[in-house]
Amino acid sequence: MKGIVFTEFLDLVEDKFGIEMVDKIIEQSELDSGGVYTAIGTYKFSEMLQLLENLSNNTGVSTDDLLLVYAEHFFSVLEDSYPGLLATYKDPIEMLSSIEDHIHVEVKKIYPDAELPTFLVEEKSENSLVLLYKSSRAMHHFGLGLMNKTFEHFNSSAEIVLEKIKNDGTEVRFIINKN
Ligand code: HEM
Repeated sequence: MKGIVFTEFLDLVEDKFGIEMVDKIIEQSELDSGGVYTAIGTYKFSEMLQLLENLSNNTGVSTDDLLLVYAEHFFSVLEDSYPGLLATYKDPIEMLSSIEDHIHVEVKKIYPDAELPTFLVEEKSENSLVLLYKSSRAMHHFGLGLMNKTFEHFNSSAEIVLEKIKNDGTEVRFIINKN
């Protein structure tokens, strides 16, 4: 997992829960990195999982809710870092249906070692989209947060229903209907 995901995560934890919480979750986790991350480095996904689980245990907020809030913050990082990529799109459905064939393809060019999910387009119309998410990382709520913000970015909103295909969350169907 790319370092930027860790640095932005720990910044948000500091913002919301204070620097003591950052120190606490780093101490409670067994991290090869020692909790020191650079934006361009690459670290084990298991480190993110431990940080999330420890934050969840200390705050009582579920890891899904933490990932959702984190993704909403991460979207603004993407807006600032990749304005050109977002400017390619004029419509949220177009953008979300292009994650697999365009957006994450570009991400792979920038970070060849990025670990990305697959988003298969199952159905698409002007105002609706059905996407099948697959990833060993089961970060579907991170996807959900990014999708919410994608609609907001285009001054729009949608109802998004998650249907778990696999119980462990490694395969999830997103049923998206624009309001
Ligand atoms: C992960 C970039 C848009 C869904 C990531 C990662 C990067 C990235 C750098 C981390 C990879 C790693 O740590 O190895 C971008 C950029 C975008 C974009 C630059 C747009 C400009 C989106 C959108 C979605 C999305 C709109 C909506 C669903 C995800 C998910 C992950 C991810 C779910 C977590 C990894 C996983 O589930 O396996 N993306 N992304 N991304 N992205 Fe994107």
